[in-house]
Amino acid sequence: MSSDAKEAATNEYVTMTDHSTGKSYDLPVMNGTVGPKVVDVRPFYRDTGMFTYDPGFTSTGSCESSITYIDGEAGILMHRGYRIEDLCEHSDFMEVCYLLLNGELPDAATKKEFETTITYHSMLHEQLNNLYRGFRRDAHPMAIMVGVVGALSAFYHDSTDINDPEQRMIASHRLVAKMPTIAAWAYKYSIGQPFMYPRNDMSYAENFLQMMFSVPCEDYVVNSVLAAAMDKIFILHADHEQNASTSTVRLAGSSGANPFACIAAGISSLWGPSHGGANEAVLNMLGEIGSADKIPEYLEKAKDPQDNFRLMGFGHRVYKNYDPRAKVLQSHAHNVLDALGIRDEPLLKMAMELEKIALEDDYFVQRKLFPNVDFYSGIILRAMGFPVSMFTVLFALARTVGWIAQWKEMIEDPSQKIGRPRQLYTGEYDREYVPLDKR
Ligand code: SDX
Repeated sequence: MSSDAKEAATNEYVTMTDHSTGKSYDLPVMNGTVGPKVVDVRPFYRDTGMFTYDPGFTSTGSCESSITYIDGEAGILMHRGYRIEDLCEHSDFMEVCYLLLNGELPDAATKKEFETTITYHSMLHEQLNNLYRGFRRDAHPMAIMVGVVGALSAFYHDSTDINDPEQRMIASHRLVAKMPTIAAWAYKYSIGQPFMYPRNDMSYAENFLQMMFSVPCEDYVVNSVLAAAMDKIFILHADHEQNASTSTVRLAGSSGANPFACIAAGISSLWGPSHGGANEAVLNMLGEIGSADKIPEYLEKAKDPQDNFRLMGFGHRVYKNYDPRAKVLQSHAHNVLDALGIRDEPLLKMAMELEKIALEDDYFVQRKLFPNVDFYSGIILRAMGFPVSMFTVLFALARTVGWIAQWKEMIEDPSQKIGRPRQLYTGEYDREYVPLDKR
């Protein structure tokens, strides 16, 4: 439904009165399909000469979207109207990629065609190989991801015209297809092993695992349980509405920047420990806590406003209930550890004990701080053999489809314009320049 239709359909508005002038302003209200209504403040500055003020965008809708819906109070996550639990149970990552990019579930023929397209875009231009050699071997793989993904526009210039729908879709396919190869090669480079090339006879998740863990000297048999778990982990990280990294991609794209540069910007934003870097931070935190008897001491640190220690993997800007992805990951953690014959994994036991104690503590209960997607993912990834430094890389790999779907939606939105927030200026005003010898 277009914005005008929404506006006309509701014909609702809120009235704001400026008590300093006594003037009142009617601001139109828009309704979505579900979820909070929005007050359309686009005419606000023109009509009032004032800006709205919302650092961190805690109460601000930045766009209209039909890709992902989150109900934070109820702990609901849907992609194109399908619940994440159903997609995890019945779908696979390739089908979810098609759904996010196109809005509908594919039929069998369309799904097969999409999978084939992605498979045949999974190789990298051979010269990109050299780019890795410019990094130190101990470079954080996220630094390599930012560099290599940003450089893709120099190799795939034929899919950078953002006004060409065909090129937009090719760029989308290329990014989804090449992220596993780029990510696996970042890992191989860090351990001094040769790059393994994608294979066309493997599924997306199987291919990624073989590029990560196989070597040229012997055949590699993909563990089907790990491949299934990998596929589910990709689904759970695919998209999440207007989070920090997605908003970064949209803002970068609003200037007309090419899609590869926009995704590189999203990877940079995701790297932060408050966002996608939290999965790595959770494992480091559990290592620092060391044993279950130390949990109360660390919970006190997390509650101390003077201490900047946070309980990583807990809390969320939108979820004020259990993150539905954390629930699926918690059950997957048990399946993967059982499949690997890892009984009583101490980190998982400590994480569950930490969750139990925190969810009984008033500080966390009052602030509605629950485990989020990052709390359990790291435990599974570590058990699967991934080094901690690769955790956020896997998040970026999976989130690429969400970023590029949101980027496409923005470019194709006729009302989109360059993002240019304003500010509340509190600095000096109109000072006289003081010559150097007078200071
Ligand atoms: C992701 O947005 C998304 O959708 C992101 C994501 C996605 O899929 O894209 O879901 C992925 O980023 C998940 C979040 C991963 N980050 C972490 O696990 C890091 C730890 N969490 C916190 O840093 C925090 O909870 C945030 C950043 C996630 C959310 O912060 P907000 O919404 O800005 O909340 P806030 O900082 O204003 O906190 C409200 C209160 C504060 O206390 P008071 O000032 O009211 O006394 O809760 C406290 C905070 O101090 N608080 C925590 C806490 N998180 C919030 N206290 C201890 N430990 C925590 N983890």
